[in-house]
Amino acid sequence: MRIKVAPSILSADFSCLGKEIKDVERAGADMIHIDVMDGHFVPNITIGPVVVKYIRKQTRLPLDVHLMIEKPQRFINDFVDAGSDMLTVHIETISLSGIKAQSLKLKGRGVKFGISLNPNTPLARIKPVLGNVDFVLVMSVNPGFGGQSFMPVALSKIKGLRSIYDGDIAVDGGINEKNAKKVVACGANILACGSYIFNTKDRKLAIERIRNAARR
Ligand code: DX5
Ligand code: ZN
Repeated sequence: MRIKVAPSILSADFSCLGKEIKDVERAGADMIHIDVMDGHFVPNITIGPVVVKYIRKQTRLPLDVHLMIEKPQRFINDFVDAGSDMLTVHIETISLSGIKAQSLKLKGRGVKFGISLNPNTPLARIKPVLGNVDFVLVMSVNPGFGGQSFMPVALSKIKGLRSIYDGDIAVDGGINEKNAKKVVACGANILACGSYIFNTKDRKLAIERIRNAARR
């Protein structure tokens, strides 16, 4: 499986977001990871559909929109209309029947639907809906902020998931060149990565380092 790197703009300079996104696109990013936070599900607030709509005009890369919000059903349409290519909701915020209904609604709209789970949420919670989603996003930090340390509990979860799931497995939180190899060895193939890429001037080198670490 090809390893994809998804820079998370949470650690970008929001005063010049378009420039930051173009910079990581030139640097070899495979998609743009956009963290949407509501101040309820997570203790932080970021952006809504209107910003995604303008990001859409700045890049040709797929937009990977990670919804860390309560009752995500209320906003899914808006984020689809804004130009999302991938939409992830958290299992902690929606019922199993809600996920099934949502996945049916998104069929034919050209959007990949993903399910995410927090470090403390057992893999068993998402098993009933693995057939209803296009990918899984395993959190390797408690969501809310960039720049946190990778939690090793994610490794066994990725491994367990890979043993029963053929689709894309993304991992998000604290990814750097040191742990990239481990998460890929366990079965992840999409690496969302914020501070490691955006907190350095040479984003191309940072992305290459993640990719190379994952390859070795
Ligand atoms: C955490 C977000 C992540 C975060 C990753 O709540 O979902 O996408 O931005 O940033 P780093 O790589 O700095 O942990
Ligand atoms: Zn994220």
